[in-house]
Amino acid sequence: MSNSMTNTNTDVGIAGLGYAIPERRVDNNYFTRFVETSDEWIVQRTGIKERRWLEDHRKPSDLFTEAGQKALDDSGVAAEDIDLVIVCTVSGDHQGVPASACVVHENLGCKDAGAFDVQAACSGFIYGLSIGSQFIKTGTYKNILVIGGEALSRIADIYDRNSVIIFSDGAGAAVLQPHAVCKQGLIEDLTLGADGAGAQFITRPRGGGAEPITPEILAEGTHLIRLEGRQVYRFAVSQMISLMKWGMEGQDPDDLGLIVPHQVNRRILEKTMEMLDIAEDKMFINIDYYGNTSAASVPIALTEACNQGRLEKGKLVVLAAFGSGLTWAGARIRW
Ligand SMILES: CC(C)(COP(=O)(O)OP(=O)(O)OC[C@H]1O[C@@H](n2cnc3c(N)ncnc32)[C@H](O)[C@@H]1OP(=O)(O)O)[C@@H](O)C(=O)NCCC(=O)NCCS
Repeated sequence: MSNSMTNTNTDVGIAGLGYAIPERRVDNNYFTRFVETSDEWIVQRTGIKERRWLEDHRKPSDLFTEAGQKALDDSGVAAEDIDLVIVCTVSGDHQGVPASACVVHENLGCKDAGAFDVQAACSGFIYGLSIGSQFIKTGTYKNILVIGGEALSRIADIYDRNSVIIFSDGAGAAVLQPHAVCKQGLIEDLTLGADGAGAQFITRPRGGGAEPITPEILAEGTHLIRLEGRQVYRFAVSQMISLMKWGMEGQDPDDLGLIVPHQVNRRILEKTMEMLDIAEDKMFINIDYYGNTSAASVPIALTEACNQGRLEKGKLVVLAAFGSGLTWAGARIRW
């Protein structure tokens, strides 16, 4: 590992991918025990048929570690050669102390690598890619592990039908290297953004530093996620459109291989395809079986797309995500 900062402009590539999901399947009917809802409503409004929730005896870091190990195996990089571990999550083992990245670092057997978490909700993985890329661009590091992982079932309120039916658990990971070394997944461009005016739309309202947890907060469940879905819906459609336009600006439309969006809601994704006249086979959608896994959704989808042979050599892959904050992020990758 080198910490010396040289002033290069090294191209960054994706050397390996991996994902992990819990085996426990939760179908829509499960929620009818706790709230007034139905399979029909959930499928029609979100496209979700089932999701995966972490088994009670497992920890979020178990998923993050499994995804990270798979990405390492795929890249051929040993854990001890990783220079930096970045975990993007809002639902790790602890409430930020220590960082999930340090737990994963230990589980994988990394040696002296830096480790920290990134909190940008559903945009987190692309934020992590962007941060990791800077260290490779400057020639500071050679091997970086970026993991997007969540166990949202652990911070969702089973009695809040507006939100609990959407969220789910999983993890996805990528190993970044100089493109000259791995010769695939060239990250051509990245964009990040945020609008704090929308901070209250997806939030854990109480129980944090501003209002430390009390028995009253626990009883009302306001330390868990609350969602103003209708507000986020509007933002999500317009942001998806902006990110798609950003991703393809100045590019030959025939170069587009695949769009891999945050799996927010099937209706939002279909609306975007319709408004931008994007063919169905150009967008990867797996929300039907995994639900919304926040920071994990893009890397899980990217890995599945890769495993299914849908990332064509030389074609463009556009990643697009948005979420709590409000935040958004995009990446254009030439595979
Ligand atoms: C959450 C979401 C699926 C709700 O769908 P929607 O069509 O916008 O539904 P609305 O919020 O307008 O609610 C419509 C009605 O259904 C009800 N409803 C909400 N959740 C329900 C559920 N699980 N089952 C049955 N009815 C439900 C509402 O109470 C409302 O009833 P009302 O008209 O009597 O007030 C949708 O807004 C969405 O996907 N938003 C973005 C997702 C998101 O925020 N993800 C997290 C960050 S990426």
